[in-house]
Amino acid sequence: MTDWAAPVLAVDGPGGSGKGTVCRALADAIGWHLLDSGAIYRALAVAAENRGLDVDDPCALADLAYRLDVVFEPAPNRHSRVFVDGADVSMRLRSETAGDLASRVAALPEAREALLERQRAFRKAPGLVADGRDMGTVVFPDATLKVFLTATPAERAQRRHNQLKEQGVDVSLAHLLDEIAVRDERDRNRAIAPLKPATDAELVDTTGLSVDEVVERLLNLLQKRLS
Ligand code: DC
Repeated sequence: MTDWAAPVLAVDGPGGSGKGTVCRALADAIGWHLLDSGAIYRALAVAAENRGLDVDDPCALADLAYRLDVVFEPAPNRHSRVFVDGADVSMRLRSETAGDLASRVAALPEAREALLERQRAFRKAPGLVADGRDMGTVVFPDATLKVFLTATPAERAQRRHNQLKEQGVDVSLAHLLDEIAVRDERDRNRAIAPLKPATDAELVDTTGLSVDEVVERLLNLLQKRLS
């Protein structure tokens, strides 16, 4: 059940802006819950693929979104393990293919609407760190603090490259830059909940900053809001 009184730190921004790592570190540091909303869109895409559904079919996707069987098993300092239809899809979820399918699914208003309450249900005491594209604009418009993280496309591609390398995946930097451009374009220009800062969001450019530096900056902003 959603706890509407619980404080929310909404962190939005494009892929590779460091949101995922920063949000996990922040949630661990202050003992708040974590919502990785991108993982929900990825899980929906994977569930659709499992069923052979067309990921651009709004009705089929909305119907599946309402019934989606996705379970997050939090793991400190690491990505949560994610189960879709009872199967561990943690690795598959982070693939470029799943990311691309998720971006298509996420462009469907019907699918977004169907996932709203599921996301809001993560709001529980003592608080929630919500990572996504529309956390501050749509899902938690009353968030205690809204932050929009950015970084140059070159830095975002490099970060993604390093992440994939750690997972033993070898993809060229140029390919990742192209993919980032395509996904940004789709996320920014879709008709519903496009990727953009909330009018009351703090903009933080993470280019050249370490994860610890970004976490510290966000913690300072949050402390000010909570005091
Ligand atoms: O953050 P991510 O790369 O895991 O997100 C995957 C896709 O899902 C991304 O292309 C944008 C979309 N998404 C969205 O539209 N809204 C969110 N709140 C989170 C992700």
